[in-house]
Amino acid sequence: MSPRQATARRAGKGNAAKELREIAHEAASCERCPLYRDATQTIFGEGPVGALIMLVGEQPGDQEDRQGRPFVGPAGRILDSALAEVGLDRASAYVTNAVKHFKHEQRGKRRLHKHPNRGEVTACRWWLDRELALVDPKLILALGTTAAHALLNRPIVLGQNRGRVIGLENGRRVMATIHPSAVLRMRDDAARHQAFAEFVADLREAVRIART
Ligand code: URA
Repeated sequence: MSPRQATARRAGKGNAAKELREIAHEAASCERCPLYRDATQTIFGEGPVGALIMLVGEQPGDQEDRQGRPFVGPAGRILDSALAEVGLDRASAYVTNAVKHFKHEQRGKRRLHKHPNRGEVTACRWWLDRELALVDPKLILALGTTAAHALLNRPIVLGQNRGRVIGLENGRRVMATIHPSAVLRMRDDAARHQAFAEFVADLREAVRIART
């Protein structure tokens, strides 16, 4: 790459990063679906423009809703351990969710996670599409079926599709794996260990493909 091309590329990235910050600011007052009413705040994605990989989860959980960042609760700790296993610095990835507000049901003092419905996922595509266009990752890793459905615009059976690259019409590459919270839901230590190892293997393959 010539010095002039390198300068143009840096300027392009600078503009995209600025636009991404502006969009995150706009999303803070999003009312595109009713989920904003019961959530504390919008949890927008975080990470650099030009990230090698974009990790897309379902929606923020209780901890994310309180702390204002994606994947900082129990599922986030699984994700961080898996990233450490494959040697990928979280700061070099873009981490986001298909839905940017925490959907839940109040049960006494507890706030129980509820899956977003199609209308909520579709309304939130507005933000995900903008993140995708500006971050322009080499590969998108869908964490779980909600994220995969949002990105592919169709439901998939994870067991038959995990770990393989699915090309989108716009040329983007998507891979799907389990949601890290699935590791936490396994019935015993042996099953948890196995699920975590398979999650790490998918992540490693995603990083390998993103680098090619
Ligand atoms: N689960 C998700 O899908 N995203 C988060 O940010 C946290 C938990």
